[in-house]
Amino acid sequence: MRVPLSGLPRRVSIYEVGPRDGLQNEKAVVPVDVKSEFVTRLAAAGLRTIETTSFVHPKWVPQLADAEDLLNVLPRSPDLRYPVLVPNARGLERALRNGVTEIAIFGSATEAFARRNLNRTVAESIEMFAPVVERAHREGLWVRAYISMVCGDPWEGDVPIEQVVSVASRLMDLGCSQLSLGDTIGVGTPGHVTALIEALGAAGIGTERLAVHFHDTYGQALANTLAALRAGVTCVDSSAGGLGGCPYAESATGNLPTEDLVWMLHGLGIDTGVDLGRLVETSHWMARRLGRPSPSRVVQALSPKPE
Ligand code: HMG
Ligand code: MG
Repeated sequence: MRVPLSGLPRRVSIYEVGPRDGLQNEKAVVPVDVKSEFVTRLAAAGLRTIETTSFVHPKWVPQLADAEDLLNVLPRSPDLRYPVLVPNARGLERALRNGVTEIAIFGSATEAFARRNLNRTVAESIEMFAPVVERAHREGLWVRAYISMVCGDPWEGDVPIEQVVSVASRLMDLGCSQLSLGDTIGVGTPGHVTALIEALGAAGIGTERLAVHFHDTYGQALANTLAALRAGVTCVDSSAGGLGGCPYAESATGNLPTEDLVWMLHGLGIDTGVDLGRLVETSHWMARRLGRPSPSRVVQALSPKPE
């Protein structure tokens, strides 16, 4: 049943990260034809923005070493966006050669994660991103910036809000169109999320430029999403079937499952354009290919039960 709640947007854009954030964390490398079918099914379920892969060092993330092959076989359509992760000039070069029109750079609010994920300090990683964003704009690309560890870090513990705002401002000063707030290890709670969004607003980064990217490690992802929507955010990252994590942050478990997000949004009377039945079928199909059940509660509730 659809029962609206005041103070929420009428429509939310879902930024699907399953093929990238989900599959980057699978032990087994998923074959290109399975990845391609996954993306095609997600699009058929109504998802319009699907982060498909990363142009990172193949030794760092072997699961996505087939980025070129995947982009070559994906079906294209003017209303489908396929952003990809790009950390540096080499990655951008590869993305441009493969017809990419949307990229995401990915920074860290903490030094420890910047070092582990990018082999750089925070300052060095921003220096690495600057020419990437500049060239991407010259080539007419849309650029998102991620900022990881916004609520806590496995090596540094609590991350002060001022520190997140400072790094976020430096990333957005490069000229990125959107900032995705990554609670990479899922430790955030709704008051923290609200305070962070308010602090970013006070620093000039309004909710029209924000997205939220919650991991569900402590079961807080949906509560945090509701807090972000109440604060004015209208773009939410999620991963079909709850696939995912981050290979360079061991305590990062699954992302917010897209099905759980869609269930909540539709229940609140918020439009997403997603056909929940087709999405559940897709995640059920993917779980069978991966050989283990989806952690999504909605996928579990709505999938056919074994005889
Ligand atoms: P590095 O080793 O410092 O790289 O890695 P380098 O610049 O010194 O270059 C070393 C070699 O790598 C060179 O080759 C380069 O050409 C090559 P050589 O001359 O030795 O033969 N190289 C590349 N090859 C292919 N594609 C490239 C590339 N770049 C360099 N793009 C680097 C630096 C950034 C490349 C590395 O640290 C890296 O690839 N990191 C990626 C880590 C990653 O993908 N992590 C997961 C995504 S982040 C995430 O999941 C969080 C998020 O979901 C939000 C959240 O939840 O918080 C987004
Ligand atoms: Mg993530």
